[in-house]
Amino acid sequence: MGKALFTQGAEPSCSICHTLADAETMGEIGPNLDTMRPDYDRVMRALVNGVGPMTPYDSLTDEELDALSHYVASATKADNVEP
Ligand code: HEC
Repeated sequence: MGKALFTQGAEPSCSICHTLADAETMGEIGPNLDTMRPDYDRVMRALVNGVGPMTPYDSLTDEELDALSHYVASATKADNVEP
């Protein structure tokens, strides 16, 4: 579910702006997530509050935010993939 949200479910799609190998996306507007390896809390914070040109994802449900944060942290082998 997190992967589907990353590539298409979230609007605007994360894939436009971010590179993430697991999702086969090559966006170059935002930081490369494979290199950054953001943990669960860092992804969640970016989604809820927005960061720089990245706008907050107000329309996602708590379940979707959780799935996305867990997915990005897991896919990049971040140190902490849980809340
Ligand atoms: C319009 C382009 C755009 C989209 C769409 C976008 N991002 Fe970003 N994202 C950025 C930019 C630019 C930054 C860096 C902002 C800064 O550091 O000032 C960023 C930063 C981040 C960060 C790091 C935050 C931090 O703590 O520095 C994460 C994690 C992230 N994005 C995840 C996502 C996810 C997941 C999605 C989809 C739900 C997404 N982004 C959609 C442009 C985007």
